[in-house]
Amino acid sequence: MQQLIRGRVLGFHADPQDTQHNHRYLEDGAILVEDGRILAVDDYATLARPDLPEIDHRPHLIMPGFIDTHIHFPQVQVIASWGAQLLDWLNTYTFPEESRFNQQGHAPAMADAFLNLLTAHGTTTAVAFCSVHPESAEALFSAAHARNMAMIAGKVMMDRNAPPEVLDTPQQGYDDSKALIDRWHGTGRQRYAITPRFAITSTPEQMEMAGALAREHPDCHVQTHLSENTDEIDFTLQLYPQARDYLDIYETYGLLSPKLLLGHSIHLRPREIARMAETGSRAVFCPTSNLFLGSGLFDEGGLRAAGITSGIATDVGGGTSYSMLQTLNEGYKILQLQGQKLTPLSAFHWITRGNALALGMADRIGTLDPGSMADLVVLDSRATPAMALRMDRAETLEHELFILQIMGDDRSIRQTYVAGKPMKTGG
Ligand code: GUN
Ligand code: ZN
Repeated sequence: MQQLIRGRVLGFHADPQDTQHNHRYLEDGAILVEDGRILAVDDYATLARPDLPEIDHRPHLIMPGFIDTHIHFPQVQVIASWGAQLLDWLNTYTFPEESRFNQQGHAPAMADAFLNLLTAHGTTTAVAFCSVHPESAEALFSAAHARNMAMIAGKVMMDRNAPPEVLDTPQQGYDDSKALIDRWHGTGRQRYAITPRFAITSTPEQMEMAGALAREHPDCHVQTHLSENTDEIDFTLQLYPQARDYLDIYETYGLLSPKLLLGHSIHLRPREIARMAETGSRAVFCPTSNLFLGSGLFDEGGLRAAGITSGIATDVGGGTSYSMLQTLNEGYKILQLQGQKLTPLSAFHWITRGNALALGMADRIGTLDPGSMADLVVLDSRATPAMALRMDRAETLEHELFILQIMGDDRSIRQTYVAGKPMKTGG
């Protein structure tokens, strides 16, 4: 079945920081969708046919759906927990909450709510940490598969420095991860991420098992945390006294590769930056979380200059919003504090094609290229009275994008399509 989705259309085919010819904008454009995939993008007049069903989103702006490269599914009821920095925040709020995810019915209910929140905020793909319990990953994959929504997720492996309710063992963590990979990796649009939470909560024996899984499944992503907070770094280096630095722990167990997503990556030493660049390992910038937990300022410009590819992400529940627009807003300010600039075109490239590139998935998501899945977001730049007033003075597409980047949130999301299917009713 074919359908035409009409509106103002914007998609990126190159990085605005590399070249001026980076996007295509159609004032009266349309996306031709067949069986959940993009068949063509062009001017409406070129694609319109009397037999085609049409959805008209004019005057709104249609873009590829947003991609969130680091988020914690079991923290939907942790977001906005007061007053602590990372290690206290984990112990006080996060581990107790995650301990509930093996209770009957809890993970499925939360998975449904979580995916509804993502699409309500324009996010069509996320890379998610689940709880230690395989039921949590099972619930998230089942719910995402039912929506035909591309999720990359994994149960956290953690076998120390947390309450027993959220611990596994090296063998159990390996076996449960392996069973989830067999069941879900490559099932429909689902992909597995091997997920040692971070070095503090994994013994060397467990890191060994994570390395074995990564060797046995080189097609899977690996996600973890790196150098978010200075107390975290000190504790980590006490636990691994042989390590040259924090990254060296992950290196020792064979985890560095372009498939590795290193959440936060703030307080890095020169050797760590060089090794991340050499191995293609990805950094993930989590602006709202880094400010909320008082963690520090991510050096996007420095890492880019070193040749590292960075994703950008919400990190809910350390992060304070599901909105990738609000994430860009805070990201802009973090770069400002360091004399760096996030341009509107770079910002919207980052949360679409840029994050897809960081995941090695730009052939499927993040662009409007024919053959990509029809994961789309429809943006209303005048969603609030304050935005409408400001928009009256906007003269260019870039002005409009910047208003969305700074003032936008879920109120600006008119519709979200997942594989061609609208996720909002009445939108
Ligand atoms: N480091 C280890 N676990 C977590 C987590 O859940 N959130 C954040 N922000 N950092 C972490
Ligand atoms: Zn995180």
